[in-house]
Amino acid sequence: MKILVTGGLGFIGSHTVVELLENNYEVVVIDNLYNSNISVLDRIEKITGKEFSFYEEDVCDEEALEKIFCENKIDAVIHFAGYKAVGESVQKPIMYYENNLVSTLHLCKKMIEHNCFNLIFSSSATVYGNPEVLPITEECRVGGTTNPYGTTKLMIERILKDICISNPKFHVIALRYFNPIGAHESGLIGEVPNGIPNNLMPYIVRVASGELEVLSVFGDDYDTPDGTGVRDYIHVVDLAKGHLKALEKISELDGIHYYNLGTGVGYSVLDLVHAFEKVNGVSVPYKIVDRREGDIASCYADASLALQELGWKAEKSLQDMMRDSYYFILKEKDNN
Ligand code: WQD
Repeated sequence: MKILVTGGLGFIGSHTVVELLENNYEVVVIDNLYNSNISVLDRIEKITGKEFSFYEEDVCDEEALEKIFCENKIDAVIHFAGYKAVGESVQKPIMYYENNLVSTLHLCKKMIEHNCFNLIFSSSATVYGNPEVLPITEECRVGGTTNPYGTTKLMIERILKDICISNPKFHVIALRYFNPIGAHESGLIGEVPNGIPNNLMPYIVRVASGELEVLSVFGDDYDTPDGTGVRDYIHVVDLAKGHLKALEKISELDGIHYYNLGTGVGYSVLDLVHAFEKVNGVSVPYKIVDRREGDIASCYADASLALQELGWKAEKSLQDMMRDSYYFILKEKDNN
């Protein structure tokens, strides 16, 4: 089977391409390198010993998509490409709505024109907004998103549902990621955010490596065991494997289906700091500061539906995530 992976040189995309190649899928990647680097292509080939087709194009570009679908018989698409920085989305909503929505609309149009009806969409737990109940199941209310990034994910899920209603041949699986962290054990691919990291894990890693001085913990007065924010952190390799499980099932499922990809376990900010220090034998200096605008206290998944219907369950531990995250940044320093 030949799979088109949009954003396939990005953080989650690259780990998924590795799993696809290692499971003998043929892979075609489209990536405009806005939030990734061409060096990732060689690193994927180094990890897997396999080659794949690459188009340095923008998914919004219909002519580029036409060329890809004419040159390749695509059996399914995994759609990662999209802007994903929460804070940036608040500052630049037009850029986020235009890019994330238009790219998806053009992609779906080309898929249908070329008789490709299987789409796996990179969605997010942010579609649940501030969860009413915990753990979060796929039946929980969606909406109340607190930033344009999360709202684009919600809107795209709605668009895809309407496309499935209009065309019974079209099958969609929307995977709602919780907090992806970690890196491939080789240390060759991982998360390389542009500039100062917004997310917790890249920040911890850079404080530990001495690149940044101290971690700011955004509030310790939440209604959580130690007062700091609780999230469901999932190893990016477990997440990647979830996409392959979805690929195996998608042609059997009619319409659109939603699955939480999380571990089902919530860890606090300080849980991560302490685990990171213990696993890697380093110190992560931190200071408690005010809450970050828009943050919620707790968010973690009930991932039982993915196990029941896709046969997928996260396997890697918090210690694996801490170890692999740090090893990647140390190896990056050697590589550059
Ligand atoms: C985690 C916890 C912060 C940074 C985001 C996106 C979401 C998804 C995952 C794509 C919170 C605290 C953080 C720091 C801190 N991405 N924190 N100091 O906000 O849960 O979710 O990433 O789908 O869409 O919103 O992740 O890593 O930013 O924060 O104390 O320097 O760490 O308050 O409790 P978040 P995060």
